[in-house]
Amino acid sequence: MGIGAHLARYAADQGWSVAISARSEDTLKEMADQSNGRMHAYPLDVLDLEATKTVVDAIERDLGPITIAVLNAGTHADMPASAFDATEVAKIYALNMTGMANGLDPLLKKFLPRGAGQIALTASVAGFRGLPRAGAYCASKAGTIAMAESLECEIGPKGVKIQVICPGFVRTPLTDKNDFPMPYLMEPEDAAKRIWNGLMSDRFEISFPRRFVWQLKFLQLLPARWYFALIRKATGQ
Ligand SMILES: NC(=O)c1ccc[n+]([C@@H]2O[C@H](COP(=O)([O-])OP(=O)(O)OC[C@H]3O[C@@H](n4cnc5c(N)ncnc54)[C@H](OP(=O)(O)O)[C@@H]3O)[C@@H](O)[C@H]2O)c1
Repeated sequence: MGIGAHLARYAADQGWSVAISARSEDTLKEMADQSNGRMHAYPLDVLDLEATKTVVDAIERDLGPITIAVLNAGTHADMPASAFDATEVAKIYALNMTGMANGLDPLLKKFLPRGAGQIALTASVAGFRGLPRAGAYCASKAGTIAMAESLECEIGPKGVKIQVICPGFVRTPLTDKNDFPMPYLMEPEDAAKRIWNGLMSDRFEISFPRRFVWQLKFLQLLPARWYFALIRKATGQ
């Protein structure tokens, strides 16, 4: 189960009414059936803008105005420079960036006139700086952080809260594919709890685990030459 599913379960355990979306109808239905009526399934492919608008309308019709929306669908594929593939890059951008924009579109149209609502975009610590074999993923997550910052400048003063979630490595079906040691790998239950606490706070950036985040923020400050030397050594490039 991914981060989003664990977060939905955690929110439901806190007594919230949670609308859950993904493409797998059976998984959504199973989660909803096991939730004592707290979770509600809205199957959706976020690559489809019209379908996303329809689902946002349906959620508000069934459950009332959305309080918090977490735009979390995303993917990664290992891509060394020697196997650079524009089609694969486009697939990663499509889900991680266009899919997120497809959620932002109907949500902002509802939240801004109301002057209320909260949106969290799932980025990653991989958006802090470029990492080897992950150009498309890092670019998409850096873009997500920039999107959240850009929106915050405008919508924060209008009563709509936006946050960016930057997890380190979390054990999910996505990271199960990784064939390298993942520093500070966390369990998804722990990640969900940290994200929930961040959503309940007034922090703009919900990033964790702290020690890993500090190390990466330090790397962000380094001149390019030092950064490349360090990262090549650390990753054996
Ligand atoms: N795991 C990590 O270490 C980590 C670290 C930093 C950031 N993140 C980010 O956290 C987010 C979740 O990652 P994860 O590890 O939980 O991934 P995951 O286990 O692969 O889960 C991804 C979720 O997105 C859904 N999804 C995929 N394509 C979709 C589409 N077109 N429309 C709607 N839903 C779709 C999947 O459900 P269906 O397949 O049923 O659609 C699944 O529920 C991603 O944005 C990822 O980049 C993860």
